[in-house]
Amino acid sequence: MKTVTILGATGSVGTSTLDLIEREPDRFRVVALTANCDVTKLAAAAIRTQAEFAVVADEKCLPALREALAGTGIRSGGGGEAIAEAASSGADWTMGAIVGCAGLKPVMAAIEQGGTVVIANKEPLVSAGDVILAAAKRTGATLLPADSEHNAIFQCFDATRPERVRRIILTCSGGPFRDWTTEQMRGVTLEQAVKHPNWSMGAKISVDSATCMNKGLELIEAARLFPIAHDRIEIVIHPQSVIHSLVDHVDGSVLAQLGPPDMRTPIAHTLAWPDRMATPMAPLDLVAIGRLDFEAPDPVRFPALRLAREALDAGGARPAILNAANEVAVEAFLQRRIGFLEIAAIVEHTSSCYDPAVPDSVDAVLAIDAEARILAGERVKDYAV
Ligand SMILES: NC(=O)c1ccc[n+]([C@@H]2O[C@H](COP(=O)([O-])OP(=O)(O)OC[C@H]3O[C@@H](n4cnc5c(N)ncnc54)[C@H](OP(=O)(O)O)[C@@H]3O)[C@@H](O)[C@H]2O)c1
Repeated sequence: MKTVTILGATGSVGTSTLDLIEREPDRFRVVALTANCDVTKLAAAAIRTQAEFAVVADEKCLPALREALAGTGIRSGGGGEAIAEAASSGADWTMGAIVGCAGLKPVMAAIEQGGTVVIANKEPLVSAGDVILAAAKRTGATLLPADSEHNAIFQCFDATRPERVRRIILTCSGGPFRDWTTEQMRGVTLEQAVKHPNWSMGAKISVDSATCMNKGLELIEAARLFPIAHDRIEIVIHPQSVIHSLVDHVDGSVLAQLGPPDMRTPIAHTLAWPDRMATPMAPLDLVAIGRLDFEAPDPVRFPALRLAREALDAGGARPAILNAANEVAVEAFLQRRIGFLEIAAIVEHTSSCYDPAVPDSVDAVLAIDAEARILAGERVKDYAV
């Protein structure tokens, strides 16, 4: 039986993970589940799965969690240390599905245990890639990518022969505004931005998909995870989201991974890896899909693509600054304080006015993250309506 901990169990990825685990109670045993403050969902999941430990990051929500779990025998906890304790629970398999750089310390705590750590939470890898990879190497933890694109590449990329890979091609749906002009995007509402054409996801990643910053973050994530030069990672718009990414080899063979736009497929791959497990998804019906389209991305209408590429090439602290500024700007957009186009403008401004030393530890990354958030927050005030 595989023991499992889910960091971010109440979110979109966390819920998909629970769905798979609960279908096979003889195969998986839940050790710990965490949330920020969604006590109702967390307590229900902990009771259903008979988890040992349930934790809210927001300590104000701990009394409600205690009450919801009273008499169940499930231990409860609240705050950053309790989240770290859950991440350090020694589970065989830990899902990192917290949103944003808030997931960095928990993911690092899981890596210290040396088990399998599954990365859905891409922001820590963007901000602190070198630090995370060094920790995994030191502890022997196995990192598996759950992001559908990176999971697709992982399935196609022979890591023992990286010199035989010519290119990685990351596919991108293009989001809800793929065909819109910049002028049209100026008036985008929150409701339009969070309505992804193919995927059902949390609010932050949905907005990132709409600005194409999600693909920019994934570009940096791919550069962290796979041994290939940055300029050999390309992005192609593929509106149907059926091909999740491709690996092009020196002999001209291109391997692609296809599947439904449902996170349960890549999560199941990491849950069973190196084996396979059944999922409830219907077989892919290529005849019904009919056609697969491809287009070049447009970094002029979607400047986030350019900003992420520049941050990747600049290296050092730049990806952490890009990510922190983007988190602040997206949050401001979600609160209806700024317009859609201002998200990329705030990221660009913050990236251009802050140039700290290269971070070499989690604390150094978090200090840069904090400063970039202050600078981006100031810029939000300039734009705020
Ligand atoms: N959704 C997808 O299809 C998808 C695909 C690929 C990658 N990802 C990545 O996976 C991560 C999660 O995405 P999601 O769509 O599942 O997000 P989501 O639905 O917003 O869920 C986020 C989870 O993180 C928890 N959380 C939020 N703030 C926290 C904090 N400060 N400390 C601890 N926990 C916190 C939330 O708890 P509450 O519910 O209590 O707020 C929730 O459990 C993101 O990094 C995203 O980029 C998502």
